[in-house]
Amino acid sequence: MVIPYKHEPFTNFGLEENQEQYNQGLAKVSSYLGEKYPLIIGGERIFTEEQIVSVNPSNHKEVIGSVSKASRELAEKAMQIADTTFNTWKKVKPEVRADILFRAAAIIRRRKHEFSALLTKEAGKPWNEADADTAEAIDFLEFYARQMLQLKDGIPVESRPGEYNRFNYIPLGVGVVISPWNFPFAIMAGTTVAAVVTGNTVLLKPASTTPVVAYKFLEVLEEAGLPAGVVNFVPGSGAEVGDYLVDHPRTRFISFTGSKEVGIRIYERAAKVNPGQIWLKRVIAEMGGKDTMVVDKEADLELAAKSIVSSAFGFSGQKCSACSRAVIHQDVYDQVLARAIELTNELTVGNPEDRTTYMGPVNDQAAFNKVMSYVQIGREEGRVVTGGEGDDSTGWFIKPTIVADVKEDARLMKEEIFGPVVAFCKAKDFDHALEIANNTEYGLTGAVISNNRANIEKAREDFHAGNLYFNRGCTGAIVGYQPFGGFNMSGTDSKAGGPDYLVLHMQGKTTSEML
Ligand code: SER
Repeated sequence: MVIPYKHEPFTNFGLEENQEQYNQGLAKVSSYLGEKYPLIIGGERIFTEEQIVSVNPSNHKEVIGSVSKASRELAEKAMQIADTTFNTWKKVKPEVRADILFRAAAIIRRRKHEFSALLTKEAGKPWNEADADTAEAIDFLEFYARQMLQLKDGIPVESRPGEYNRFNYIPLGVGVVISPWNFPFAIMAGTTVAAVVTGNTVLLKPASTTPVVAYKFLEVLEEAGLPAGVVNFVPGSGAEVGDYLVDHPRTRFISFTGSKEVGIRIYERAAKVNPGQIWLKRVIAEMGGKDTMVVDKEADLELAAKSIVSSAFGFSGQKCSACSRAVIHQDVYDQVLARAIELTNELTVGNPEDRTTYMGPVNDQAAFNKVMSYVQIGREEGRVVTGGEGDDSTGWFIKPTIVADVKEDARLMKEEIFGPVVAFCKAKDFDHALEIANNTEYGLTGAVISNNRANIEKAREDFHAGNLYFNRGCTGAIVGYQPFGGFNMSGTDSKAGGPDYLVLHMQGKTTSEML
C-alpha cells in the first residue's frame, strides 16, 4: 500500500542544525566545482571537445562545471537509442516504473541540502528558494509515481451483454524534454519523469546555464534503477540540437518550459510533418506570464503589500508566476505603494550563499541586460520609486525595483521582464482592475487581495489566469495542491503537478472483445 501523497515540507533554516546541514551541502558542492561532465547516451559517457561552461551567477569567475555539448551526430545517436529503448521500456510494468521514481525521491531526500546548495551555486537561489526547488523535485517524483499507479489499469467504460470493453493508456514514444534554468531541478526533473513514468523514453536537453544539476539528477535516476537509454542527457544549443530533435521524424512529443518566443518556435516546427514521420507530434509547452496582483479597496493592505513584494522579488522575479504588475484600487493605491516601498527597501541583495540574503543575482549577462533595459523603459513609462540599479562586476545583481504610476497599456505592463521589476498601476474600481488584469496575451497566475466576497467571486469567473489566488501571493504553487499552468500565450494549458498531466504523455487505446 502506497502512503498517501503529501508535499515535501520546507526546511526551517532558523534551526541551527538545518543551517549546519546546508553549509555541509555547500561544502560538498564546493568539493566538485569545476568538474567536467559527459553526455549520457544509452548509459554511455561521451565527452566532447566543445563544452558548455556553467558559472555561478553571483560570481561569474567561479565555474560550477563544464558539460559536454551534443552535436547533431550525437543527438541522432541519442535519438536512435531512445527509439530502440522505447520498445523495451514501454513493456516495463507501470508499478516498476513508479518504484524507480519513489526510490529516486528517497535518494534526493537524503541528499536534499547538497542539491539545494548546488542550486544556490549554479542558479543563484537563496536558501529558501533552493530548498523549495528541491522539495518540488521530490514532490513531482512522489506525485507522478502515484498518479501512474492510478492510471495503470485505464479508466472503466461500459460494456454491453456479451462484450468486454476496456480503455487503457499506452505511452507515446520518444519525448524531447527542454527544461528551463529558473527551476533547474524541479521543472527539469518533473517534466522528465512525467514522460518516463508513463512509459516513454526521453532526450533531455537542460538549460545551458544550469546543466550540472541535471547531470546529477541523471545519476540519481541511474542509482534508482532506471535502465540505460530511457533518459539520455544531451545538452546543446537550441539552434543546433534543439531544432534538430524537435524536427526529427521519430520525435513523438516535446515537453518544453521556457520563453514564449522559443515555445512558439517549437510549436510551429513541431507542426510540420517531416519525411518518414507517421504521426502528428504533441507539444506540451509552459511559457511565460505577465502576472497581476489586484488589490481591492476593501482589503488587508498589509497583506497586499507583503504579498506583492514577495511575489515580485522572490528569486529575483525569475519565475513565470512572479508578480510583475500590481493593479490597485485608486482609494488605497498610495498606501499600498508606500508600504511596498518600505518593505522592498528592507530586502537584502547579494550572494545567496549567505543565509541572510533575500535576493541573489539574475541568471546571466543576457538576463541582466534585458532587465536593465526594462528599468530604463520604466523610467520613461513611470516613476522608479525604489531600486533601479544594477551591478554586473562580479555577479549579475539588480536591486528590487518598483516602477509606480505606470499606465495600463505601457510596455512595462505587457511584456515579460523575468526579473526583479514590478509595475504599479492605478485602477478606477474593481471592474477596471480586472479589465487591466486581463489585458495581456498571457494568462498564467494572478491574485486578488480583497475582503469583498462578491468581488472575489467575480474574479473567480472573469480573471483569466490558470492559477488564481485569493488573499495571498501569486507564486509558489505546490505539486498536487495547486496544479500549475496557464492560458493563452502562457502555454498549452497543461497543468504540471495536476491530475491530468500524465495523460498528456499517453494515448488512449480501446479494446473491445466479444465474449
Ligand atoms: N510553480 C512555480 C510557482 O508557482 C513557478 O514555476 O511559483
